[in-house]
Amino acid sequence: MKLILFGPPGSGKGTQAQLIKERHGIPHISTGDLFRKNISEGTELGKLAQTYMNKGELVPDDVTIKMLKERLQQPDCKDGFLIDGFPRNIPQAEVLDQLTDIDIAILINQTDEVIIPRLSGRRSCPMCGHTTHVDWLEEGKKDICPKCFARLIQRDDDKEEVVKTRLDNYRKLTAPLTGYYEKQHKLKVVNATNDVESTYKLVDKVIRENK
Ligand code: AP5
Repeated sequence: MKLILFGPPGSGKGTQAQLIKERHGIPHISTGDLFRKNISEGTELGKLAQTYMNKGELVPDDVTIKMLKERLQQPDCKDGFLIDGFPRNIPQAEVLDQLTDIDIAILINQTDEVIIPRLSGRRSCPMCGHTTHVDWLEEGKKDICPKCFARLIQRDDDKEEVVKTRLDNYRKLTAPLTGYYEKQHKLKVVNATNDVESTYKLVDKVIRENK
């Protein structure tokens, strides 16, 4: 299956993508994670991407598209994949349509009132990529990854003012993808709840109905 997950920053795309990967065995491609990997490795691509990401802006299309094309050519993608964070505007969606035929595009919806406190409490593991929230971590172990025990970090772009720019850019540039995929009869909308497993049940239902 070839799936896309899109939605506002902090709506839970990465969290649901981890579960889909574990439970359906579909490779998970996150353009945000690919950029963060390049940043942590100090590559030229990472240095360039960081200047945009820290402001909450999109990384230029030519750079992002080249990186995604290379990732899709890897052997694990030959039977399908789940892309989280691409496309993020109409030109990227048009390029993806030239590269491959997506089965469904799942919009993970969430309101700003939920997103802002969520992102400011988000913690990420630089070692295994696990994402969690401070409220879910045990007292005394708030900075320890529950999966691999590495030290958790807070993303630079999870500061409140940057989150607001990301939300504005989502509305301006990414939200129009709703109409784009609706016209192609590929749009599936999941209204995320405040519980990961009940949101997953909705996502899983959509995937099973379209397999
Ligand atoms: P990216 O990494 O893709 O960030 P994003 O889309 O802004 O999304 P997030 O990762 O912040 O949130 P999410 O929806 O995955 O939520 P999560 O599951 O983590 O991109 C970062 C940057 O890279 C962009 O701003 C841009 O600069 C650049 N970039 C990436 N792709 C690009 C592209 N195609 N073109 C150009 N530039 C690009 O959940 C958030 C929090 O909520 C977590 O703490 C989680 O534990 C918690 N949570 C999740 N689900 C629930 C739930 N159901 N109930 C309660 N809490 C929950």
